[in-house]
Amino acid sequence: MTGFMPKLAKSLAQNLRWVQDNFPQKKHINRAEVFFQPFVELRQQLVSWIEESREAFTLRQDFNPEMLGFDHFDAGGYAEVYTSPCKRFAIRVSRDCADSAYQDFLTIALQRQHNPFYPKVYALLQHENRQVVLMEYLTLIDLDDPEYDEVEILREDSRLGKTGSPCPNRQELVRDIHALVAGDDCRLDLHPDNALLRHTGTGRQIVVTDPIAG
Ligand SMILES: Nc1ncnc2c1ncn2[C@@H]1O[C@H](COP(=O)(O)OP(=O)(O)O)[C@@H](O)[C@H]1O
Ligand SMILES: [Mg+2]
Repeated sequence: MTGFMPKLAKSLAQNLRWVQDNFPQKKHINRAEVFFQPFVELRQQLVSWIEESREAFTLRQDFNPEMLGFDHFDAGGYAEVYTSPCKRFAIRVSRDCADSAYQDFLTIALQRQHNPFYPKVYALLQHENRQVVLMEYLTLIDLDDPEYDEVEILREDSRLGKTGSPCPNRQELVRDIHALVAGDDCRLDLHPDNALLRHTGTGRQIVVTDPIAG
């Protein structure tokens, strides 16, 4: 009987340790405090939380952005997307299915962070063909937005590899997408659900987020 309580305490402590090691994102988030921080501080905080979850994601591909205070926002065929309450960040969690097309696009996007047509990516967890991507929050393009037709033109130019525009960043994007769809592995899927908008101090920028599909 005397040895029972210490044994129980030890086993509870071990269990707690196991939970902390395996579910590091299970923390209490004070949304009012966390999401009112300035952009750079918040980004650093989110990046470090996502880094803490790297091992658990690699082991079990388990990651729930709601644990970080994010809200579920939208679901596509391959991913669930969550947004921060301050609408400055989005987290895309790929579903449990192979999406090598998105992986190929993401590989290019990471090399194109200077190009405004690509989403800004701040953190990435990767296991085989599944990813958790922390990126900038972007807004949807409506039917009556001028960018709606722009996306259609961008799709046609990307299909043909037509880099006629004088804008070097657009030329780079068109060349990249054209090269991605040149093989048999994927098809062009560029439409106004897979191209969103960034609002800057000086205007609006089309950002291509998911232009090809497997
Ligand atoms: N950075 C973002 N900010 C806001 N919403 C986004 C963002 N990325 C994606 N979404 C929303 O989530 C939806 C699904 O994301 P997407 O990457 O297209 O996944 P899928 O491969 O499943 O189509 C998009 O159509 C869009 O509505
Ligand atoms: Mg999509």
